[in-house]
Amino acid sequence: MARYAQIVGWGMCVPNQILTNDDLANMVDTSDDWIRTRTGIVERRIAAPKETTATMAIRAAQTALRVANANPAKLDLIIVATATPDYLFPATACLVQDALGATRAGAFDLSAGCTGFVYALAVGSQMIISGAYDQVLVIGAETLSRIINWTDRNTCVLFGDGAGAMLLQASDVPGGVLSAVLGADGSGGDLLMLPAGGSRHPASVETVAQGLHYIHMNGREIFRFATRVTAKAARQALAEANVNLEDIALFISHQANGRIIEAAAKSLKLPPEKVFVNLEHYGNTSSASVPIALCEAIEQGRVKRDDHLVMVGFGAGLTWAAVVIRWGVPLPVPRPPRWRVAWRLARYRWAAIRSYLRRLGWKILSAVIRLFVRDNGSD
Ligand code: COA
Repeated sequence: MARYAQIVGWGMCVPNQILTNDDLANMVDTSDDWIRTRTGIVERRIAAPKETTATMAIRAAQTALRVANANPAKLDLIIVATATPDYLFPATACLVQDALGATRAGAFDLSAGCTGFVYALAVGSQMIISGAYDQVLVIGAETLSRIINWTDRNTCVLFGDGAGAMLLQASDVPGGVLSAVLGADGSGGDLLMLPAGGSRHPASVETVAQGLHYIHMNGREIFRFATRVTAKAARQALAEANVNLEDIALFISHQANGRIIEAAAKSLKLPPEKVFVNLEHYGNTSSASVPIALCEAIEQGRVKRDDHLVMVGFGAGLTWAAVVIRWGVPLPVPRPPRWRVAWRLARYRWAAIRSYLRRLGWKILSAVIRLFVRDNGSD
């Protein structure tokens, strides 16, 4: 029997703190008018000191699991698309796995810049369609505020923090992720990069002094690249899915710049009501932007069962990707009974206790081994 990868759960998390264009105008030589007209952004969210990519990813994931009424212990795989992981390793996906108590799941991070979520959706859906897995949690999460040079007006006005999660589930109902197109052109890698902190330029006093741990970007070239690939990738994914442009209910692009989205919509001849834009509130949240946009589109009643959606990402790498989805879940989803919410919270508490006990176990084990080695050494 044919298998399909349906999106059955969704959730988002953004920090409470809002940074407006006027706030930025007090920090660098810019203005609300310049930012609005050149980008469409009005405000963005900034993580509190204790918030990280993992904490936002966990909250978005918990909402997605609640919406789907899914048990985290039954997840097969967790993919976190991010350019701002909590650590280079362990993977942020493993932090999410631990916090959710997803004891059966594999977990890894995916690095494809702002295209990461769409790449992850392609990977996760193929894992399901191939028959390897039944439930895959796909997350896009970023804390870009930690790698922004707040004195560089070319970049600091563009980005924001947040996370979005989608739960993919195997189904025999035709639909879900119908096609995926992935692209890359590494020759443009240095147009958008974080130069230091990897194996080429490990962190040192010099790299810090030279500001190499901040985002470096050639905005004009990235703009040109993005306007070139967005509509093209959407067209390719539609052709692969055998879906006509006229049958698209909603176009959800990476929310980087309103002018890039407009140019793509114009090229695809899509009317404004078929184009979703929310970047005025969040700025560019990199791999979190597409899932956050999809969550808000659902919340606003702009997605209905059997609708065809196109989602497109582009970004560092350079990378780009597009997926076509036929929505398979009736909306709105009924609220779960209170006891189920309480039961779920209890499970997360238990996951935290389990994690604590296991950490303690590792510590005791290594202390015992140290004692053993010392005693044997003194013989
Ligand atoms: N406020 C005021 N002026 C600014 C500014 C700011 N925040 N940032 C740049 N400027 C200035 C520039 O210094 C330049 O001045 P100059 O002509 O004296 O050198 C001028 O504005 C115009 O710069 P330009 O690059 O032509 O502007 P633009 O219309 O291309 O807009 C971006 C700049 C960054 C908004 C636009 O290129 C863009 O969105 N690029 C894509 C970025 C992106 O999406 N990156 C992430 C991809 S995932």
